[in-house]
Amino acid sequence: MNRHVVITGASSGIGAACAHAFEKEGDRLSLGARRHERLSAVSKTAFCSELDVTDKASVARFLQAAVDANGPIDLLINSAGLARGVEKIAEGTGEAWREMIETNVLGLLEVTRLVLPQMVARKTGHIVVIGSLAGHKAYIGGGVYCGSKRALQPICEAIRMETLGHNVRVTSVDPGLVETEFSIVRFRGDHKRADAVYAGTRPMHAADVADCVLWAANRPAHVNIDTIVVMPTDQASPQMVHRAT
Ligand SMILES: NC(=O)c1ccc[n+]([C@@H]2O[C@H](COP(=O)([O-])OP(=O)(O)OC[C@H]3O[C@@H](n4cnc5c(N)ncnc54)[C@H](OP(=O)(O)O)[C@@H]3O)[C@@H](O)[C@H]2O)c1
Repeated sequence: MNRHVVITGASSGIGAACAHAFEKEGDRLSLGARRHERLSAVSKTAFCSELDVTDKASVARFLQAAVDANGPIDLLINSAGLARGVEKIAEGTGEAWREMIETNVLGLLEVTRLVLPQMVARKTGHIVVIGSLAGHKAYIGGGVYCGSKRALQPICEAIRMETLGHNVRVTSVDPGLVETEFSIVRFRGDHKRADAVYAGTRPMHAADVADCVLWAANRPAHVNIDTIVVMPTDQASPQMVHRAT
């Protein structure tokens, strides 16, 4: 379709799967992540560059280079994000909370606020946010991660109101369990604990979530998909998962 699609967190998981999906559509891609050396393996044709969404200078540098390489941005997919640990609130030290809020909320805002003005000026654009089922339902040990994802809902609502009449679409794609590097990051590299999250059940693949993003992006310009909540068939709530074992 020849859109310029910018994807944050494209070095892994859902972001990388979105890159594959939109590349197949014939779009021009700009991919960012801290582990930028991984990005060229995700796509041979995309513009790839280092991006740390928690670092304002890095965000500004990345977006300017993306626009220089591929022109004005048609679609921004905010996939960069993480959960860290499963501490109950009374057990938290604050370090992991700051990391999650700085990445999932403030980082996403920093990218989005720099992209929006040019979409409003051009009267075209689409912002996609990868939220989470965790933003709809809390669970023990996930309070701050859930809060960081819940925060995205009023942010999306406000952007829709603030850009009304400027032909900007805002979509939140909110998945349940997806097997990516998410749990390895959450458990700080402990593969055994990460594997246990998916043991005996059928989680979604990153490509299943990318399908949802692609479907929302490919609706006609007058149709805005507000929120997609998507879970595995084997999941009914964050901690209610059917396991065949
Ligand atoms: N997997 C699930 O079950 C699930 C469910 C619901 C929602 N989500 C959400 O989906 C999104 C993608 O997660 P995933 O499942 O694909 O996990 P993943 O495989 O760990 O991918 C996370 C991506 O975010 C990037 N990232 C993290 N911190 C960053 C930063 N400061 N600056 C730039 N990029 C950063 C990582 O790249 P670098 O480390 O290279 O920077 C990586 O590319 C997240 O927002 C997550 O909260 C995941």
